[in-house]
Amino acid sequence: MVSRRKFISTTATSLLATMASHVLVSNASSATSEPTAGKLPAAIHPDHFKTIPSSAEKLPSVGMGTWITFDVTDNERIRNQRSRVLQTFFDLGGGMVDSSPMYGTAEEVLGYCLKRTHSNDTLFAASKIWTPLAIEAGPQMANTENLWGVQPMDLMYVHNLLNLNSHLPKLRDWKESGRIRYLGISTSHGRRHAELEKLLQSKVLDFVQLTYNYDQRIAEERLIPLARDNGIAVIVNRPFQRGHLIDKYKNQPLPGIAKELGCESWAQFLLYFTVSHPDVTAAIPATSRVAHMEENMSVMQLPLPDRQMRAEL
Ligand SMILES: NC(=O)c1ccc[n+]([C@@H]2O[C@H](COP(=O)([O-])OP(=O)(O)OC[C@H]3O[C@@H](n4cnc5c(N)ncnc54)[C@H](OP(=O)(O)O)[C@@H]3O)[C@@H](O)[C@H]2O)c1
Repeated sequence: MVSRRKFISTTATSLLATMASHVLVSNASSATSEPTAGKLPAAIHPDHFKTIPSSAEKLPSVGMGTWITFDVTDNERIRNQRSRVLQTFFDLGGGMVDSSPMYGTAEEVLGYCLKRTHSNDTLFAASKIWTPLAIEAGPQMANTENLWGVQPMDLMYVHNLLNLNSHLPKLRDWKESGRIRYLGISTSHGRRHAELEKLLQSKVLDFVQLTYNYDQRIAEERLIPLARDNGIAVIVNRPFQRGHLIDKYKNQPLPGIAKELGCESWAQFLLYFTVSHPDVTAAIPATSRVAHMEENMSVMQLPLPDRQMRAEL
């Protein structure tokens, strides 16, 4: 974390790093659907390696969502383009990839892309159990492992708290037996916060996923502090509110503070807002485009502000 005074020098360094990463990025953009070994990850500012409280493992603060963006048809050209998006994510130091059986073909497409990309062993695979039936959890889990081609999955959530009472003990069993590494619950759109509050105090969770962004800050009042106090990692979905925030702000001038912090676009600033919360572990923006992935990942080259400066955002 740095103070406002230090920003002048660190931001200059970050800009150089951004320029360096563009060399890397142009390599990624021209990648074919074949594996592209040997790329070095771009320089990530150390502030962006956040700690998972239950293990002290580090995680890069910008992950990747897959809802809609990876739910595509079996058209090979489109799937290979998504492979380039994923390769760009890994090349620029990405870790957490988030999906769900709820997202149509996304898990299958991820499996296709993972076979054609190199993660430099940074992939942190996160998916969900999403079914009203207890009996379906096991087969759904096996299908997720198959589709991704990953075992063990790093993190499994109960999606939208659906059938929580039966799925949460199941996730606990899987964690104890080593089938998964972490367990959590997810929600979004500010839904079911009262229930979340209770669950965050039960101390059995490693992760909670919720919505928190520039326009939707309610989670910072009670949920995020509760997660911090109970040693639970916070993953933020919808950092762009499905892209609506970018459409809303893009024709307005960037706030002075955004430029001071090194942000050059609204997308960068909106994402920076989310990951700069000291108790947010990572955000998982979704994109179908290499250029947007580059822009999103470049946020991790900027130092994070101290609490006083963060309060001005
Ligand atoms: N209950 C749950 O568990 C839950 C609920 C909601 C979401 N999620 C997870 O969270 C992830 C993120 O949420 P989300 O997909 O709803 O919304 P989001 O990440 O807030 O927004 C995605 C949209 O932003 C656009 N975008 C991304 N980067 C951009 C950039 N640099 N410039 C301009 N536009 C950009 C994308 O369009 P382009 O494709 O054109 O870039 C896409 O339409 C999901 O994919 C999913 O994995 C989980």
